[in-house]
Amino acid sequence: MTNSPVSTLRAQTRIPVIGAPMFLVSGTDLVVAQCTAGVIGTFPTLNARPQETLTVWLTEIENRLAAYKKDHPTDIVSPYGVNLIVHPSNPRWEGDLEICATHKVPLYITSLHAPNKVIDRVHPYGGIVLHDVTNAKHARKAIDAGVDGLILVANGAGGHAGTINPIALVNEIRAFYDGPLILSGCISHGKDVLAALALGCDFAYLGTRFITTTESMAPAAYQDMIVQSASSDILYSPYFTGVPGNYLKASIVAAGIDPTEVLAAKAGGAVTLNKDARPKTWKDIWGAGQGVGAIDSTMPVRQLVDQMLAEFNEAKQKLTR
Ligand SMILES: Cc1cc2nc3c(=O)[nH]c(=O)nc-3n(C[C@H](O)[C@H](O)[C@H](O)COP(=O)(O)O)c2cc1C
Repeated sequence: MTNSPVSTLRAQTRIPVIGAPMFLVSGTDLVVAQCTAGVIGTFPTLNARPQETLTVWLTEIENRLAAYKKDHPTDIVSPYGVNLIVHPSNPRWEGDLEICATHKVPLYITSLHAPNKVIDRVHPYGGIVLHDVTNAKHARKAIDAGVDGLILVANGAGGHAGTINPIALVNEIRAFYDGPLILSGCISHGKDVLAALALGCDFAYLGTRFITTTESMAPAAYQDMIVQSASSDILYSPYFTGVPGNYLKASIVAAGIDPTEVLAAKAGGAVTLNKDARPKTWKDIWGAGQGVGAIDSTMPVRQLVDQMLAEFNEAKQKLTR
């Protein structure tokens, strides 16, 4: 990836970490805290609601990052990015793209359909497009569309996770793609970030670890549940959205739903809950990946990134000793 747009991104971080976009969790405070701590901060455009709020958020992020840079001229301040769900079920995405392109947002993370329109709109001004994939078939489609890199969503990841082991997924995709790879799923510790690099990836992509930070929008009870959970407390099912995802079992029980019913649901099948009566996915049913077992505290993003950097360097030294 020498001289690729993604290598330019990496040079603008203290540790090769992208804070993954999370519905109802990533807001302006989290993004600004991530970028000023020296990792890439991102948010789903759908978190800025209604659509007019997106302009307000982008302006706020740009102003706060510029002010931080002015006050800390020697600090690394990383670029920020947005997540667009490129799918007919998301009527906002083309409008959101236009707003983001007007702001010359540096990084786009696209999910679902191949992001040809996003690439056409943002490449001319130097915008970077990374696409989420869970298997080789989708990786090939995204490469054909001309993405700048692939985010490999392995098994155990928070949200709509894949089912393939990260080592298997990286090896399979590396066999036909030598461009930038970003690894995602259960990465919580600095040594995990180093492991992603050892596998030949260029960045690690962390979602769940950033839920338990002071700046995340997740309520305290959600953060506490993550701190108290182990991987066996995560349940993988398509029950809530029709697409398989990882959720905190205790939040399902707290919503009055029997986890056995959830486990019995089939992918692509109809969601069995009554739409009006059911608890809201993401708001009441909380998403998290299997990496929860390695998370034992909530802290400010800056402290977390400093800690991860120290762990990353220590792990590197141990290997070379
Ligand atoms: C609560 C939650 C909400 C998420 N929302 C989104 C989203 O809106 N868009 C998206 O592309 N990915 C979303 N994800 C997936 C993350 O971007 C990322 O792929 C995943 O969290 C990485 O795995 P990890 O949680 O094990 O670190 C979400 C994940 C979680 C835990």
